[in-house]
Amino acid sequence: QELQLKLEMLEKGGFDHFMLKEIYEQPRSIKDCMRGRIYPEEGKVQLGGIKEFAEKLKNIDRIIIVACGTSWHAGLVGEYLIEEYARIPVEVEYASEFRYRNPIITEKDVVIAISQSGETADTMAAIEMAKERGATIFGICNVAGASIPRLTHAGVYTHAGPEIGVASTKAFTAQVTVLTLMAFYMAQQKGTITTSKLIELLTELDNIPDKIQIALESNDLIKEVAEKIKDSTNCLFLGRGSGFPVALEGALKLKEISYIHAEGYPAAEMKHGPIALIDEEMPVVFIATQNSSYEKVISNIQEVKARKGKVIAIVTQGDTEVKKMADYCIEIPDANEAFLPLIATIPLQLLSYHIAVMRGCNVDQPRNLAKSVTVE
Ligand code: AGP
Repeated sequence: QELQLKLEMLEKGGFDHFMLKEIYEQPRSIKDCMRGRIYPEEGKVQLGGIKEFAEKLKNIDRIIIVACGTSWHAGLVGEYLIEEYARIPVEVEYASEFRYRNPIITEKDVVIAISQSGETADTMAAIEMAKERGATIFGICNVAGASIPRLTHAGVYTHAGPEIGVASTKAFTAQVTVLTLMAFYMAQQKGTITTSKLIELLTELDNIPDKIQIALESNDLIKEVAEKIKDSTNCLFLGRGSGFPVALEGALKLKEISYIHAEGYPAAEMKHGPIALIDEEMPVVFIATQNSSYEKVISNIQEVKARKGKVIAIVTQGDTEVKKMADYCIEIPDANEAFLPLIATIPLQLLSYHIAVMRGCNVDQPRNLAKSVTVE
C-alpha cells in the first residue's frame, strides 16, 4: 500500500493530482509544441505535417473546424486567429451537430478536426462525412497514432505529452498554440502578413512560456479567491473577443470538476438574459485584460457591481481601473491580444482546481466523465 502510494506520488511528480501537475507543465508543453516550428529571427513558421498542402492553402475559401468540449473552445480561438491573420472565413462546429446536419461541404474546403485523445466518436464521424464530400481534412491531436490522425489527410501534433486528468488543461493550451501557428502559416502562404509583423509576433510567442510561468505564480492568491467562492452554487464567466472562448473554457473546467453550475458568455450578451441572475450570491469572473475590448468590459463590470455581484477579474499586470471595482483581481503579464487565451486560461484552471479540492471532489476523475468519449 505504502509503495503504491509512493509510486503514485512519483507519477504525479510530487503534485497532489495529475491535473495540477499538468497545469504546471504548460510552460514546457508549449515550448515542446513550438519546437522546430517557429523561426522568430526569420519571421517564419514551418509545419511539416501540412507542408504538402501549402499550395492549396493559398486558394481556400473557407475553413470548418470540428471538435467537442474543450477542443471546440480551442477551435473558437482558432477562428479568431485565422480570420484575423490569414483572412480566411472560419466556421466552428460541434462535431456532434455537424455530423447530423446536411452541411454544405465542397472539395475546396479544409476541415480542421481538433481532438486531444484522437478517439472522440462524434469528431471521427464528422471527419468521415467531410471526407466523403471531398474536403481536405487536417487533424490537431495530442495522442500520436490514434484513430483521428489516421483518418485525416494531414495534421499537426500538439506534443503536450500524456494528459491523465479528465479535465483538459495542457492539451487545450497546446491546441491553441498549434492553431496560432496554423494561422500564421496560412497568413504566410496567402501573403496577408508581412515578414516584419511575423518577426514581431513570433518573438513574442516565443516568450509566452515565460509569461505562463509568471501567471502560475499567482497560485496562492488564486487559492484565497477559491476559498471565498467555493460554496457558490452558480458562477458566470464573461469575456469579449478571444476572451470569450477563455470564459467558456473557465466555466467548463469549473462545472466538470467542482460540480458548480457555471456558464460562459460573451460579456455583451449579459444584458440579454444572464444579468437577471446577478445578486450578492453570484460570482462573476471577467476576462478584463487591457486590450481592444477593455473599456467595454469595464462597463460590464460596473453593471454587475451595481447589482451587488461578486467580481473576480483577470487583469493585466499593473491595472488600476478594474482594481477600483472588482472584489478580487488576478494579474497576468501583458501580451498581444493574439496570445491572451494562452495566458488568461491559466488562472481559471487553477481557480477550478482549488475550488474542486476544497469541495472534496475527485479532481482527476470527475463523476460521470471519461477521458475520451468513444460513444456518440
Ligand atoms: C475537457 O475538459 C473535457 N473533459 C471534454 O470536454 C473533452 O475536451 C472532449 O470530450 C473532447 O475530447 P477530445 O479532445 O479528446 O476529442
